[in-house]
Amino acid sequence: GLKIATIGGGSSYTPEIVEGFIKRYDELPVKDLYLVDIEEGKWKLDIVGALAQRMVEEAGVDMKIHLTLDRREAIKDADFVTTQFRVGLLDARIRDEKIPLRYNCIGQETTGAGGLAKALRTIPVILGICKDIEELAPDAWLINFTNPSGIITETVNKHTNVKAIGLCNVPVLMHMISADILGVDRNDIRMDLVGLNHLVWGRDVIYKGESKIDEVIERTLSGNIETVKNVANIPWGDDLLKSLGMLPCPYHRYYYLTDHMLQEEIEAAKTKGTRGEVVKKVEAELFKLYKDPNLKVKPKQLEQRGGQYYSDAACNLISSIYNDKGDIHYLNVPNNGAVDCLPNDSAIERTCYVDKEGAHPLNVKALPTKVTGLLQAVNAYESLAVEAGVYGDYDSALQALVIHPLVESSIAKPLLDDIIKENIDYLPQF
Ligand code: NAD
Ligand code: G6P
Ligand code: MN
Ligand code: MN
Repeated sequence: GLKIATIGGGSSYTPEIVEGFIKRYDELPVKDLYLVDIEEGKWKLDIVGALAQRMVEEAGVDMKIHLTLDRREAIKDADFVTTQFRVGLLDARIRDEKIPLRYNCIGQETTGAGGLAKALRTIPVILGICKDIEELAPDAWLINFTNPSGIITETVNKHTNVKAIGLCNVPVLMHMISADILGVDRNDIRMDLVGLNHLVWGRDVIYKGESKIDEVIERTLSGNIETVKNVANIPWGDDLLKSLGMLPCPYHRYYYLTDHMLQEEIEAAKTKGTRGEVVKKVEAELFKLYKDPNLKVKPKQLEQRGGQYYSDAACNLISSIYNDKGDIHYLNVPNNGAVDCLPNDSAIERTCYVDKEGAHPLNVKALPTKVTGLLQAVNAYESLAVEAGVYGDYDSALQALVIHPLVESSIAKPLLDDIIKENIDYLPQF
């Protein structure tokens, strides 16, 4: 049987991954699931862990749920380690959203300055987790879901010996939506998807060997299709979409519609609150539900969170590696030459072939200039963010913001100084 360790087990998303393992039990017999958290999150772990226990009993599968604050015990001899932790919890996220807004700059937890702050807090923790994996479970796969997922995956691949794959639900949603737009079975399409995490383009949608991207774009023009709950669904504009000729991901709105998104964020902060503040309320509601001893399945209300379907992605991936399936996934992996305009050791998000050896990105035919400029700029930002996070290097952090397309360069320094000052408890490297 398999042993899985899930770091950040107190997450409200945990019922998703538990449901994912229950559904796949026949092909993926998880005997021991360790849910790991820290003192700060123990109350969450206790509530969601008890629900996980009830879910497993209700389903009648032989899976032991272990709740622990001892990460090393959980990692020892694990086959897979999954990560879904949030350093500093939602209060830190809300700061990531609000600090940039003070400078009239996009305030988002993964994209732009907020993403850098989150990366700087997360990198020391992921490096500690990887030390434990190297020592206690050197053959384990790390399936990283913790944001910023691309930067964290790149950090692990550059600075540790751990086998790591990064995940995001956005490509999964883009796949589902494309199939739905075409009115075909979701299993019958494959996307040619390429870019970085939260900056990924759907270059093509292949149905029965035929390119369907034009049809998907044509139908996206008229409808205003929601992808994730956490990004305002501002229309792209027909000219923009037609000239792009590819399917943008929802996060592209921060780059393609910057002013609209900024105005929307400013307005939201004044009225309903930032996304982090909204999620705080959703989370309180979810944990109230989770406490109900009669609840024995994943509740519908979890769909209010932006990360829905992530566990399908995670459990499918784990099963493909374990069962040597040789099927297709959309993953964050080292580039290794797949995209010729990016460094080999950068993390890319790409259509991948997965077998027991891991994830292999499919080759990419040369990308057009309309995407390489933005792609290379954000990739350079991400590499500098990794340097800054690993070494506590102020100059790299500053240059990361200076070159970031969403940060007006003259505010980079005061913005960075605020970020460091207000996160200093979580920045041992600085
Ligand atoms: P959350 O605030 O509920 O945090 C999850 C748990 O992590 C908490 O119980 C917390 O106590 C715990 N934690 C914090 N520091 C820890 C540490 N050092 N070790 C172990 N546990 C620790 O967060 P959430 O909303 O469930 O999101 C979790 C993470 O997953 C975030 O980083 C979020 O950005 C990410 N996420 C990613 C995707 C994706 O597409 N890749 C989708 C949704 C969420
Ligand atoms: C999307 C992204 C995730 C992100 C999540 C936020 O699905 O892919 O990376 O963490 O939304 O959702 P939330 O409900 O926390 O705002
Ligand atoms: Mn994501
Ligand atoms: Mn800049």
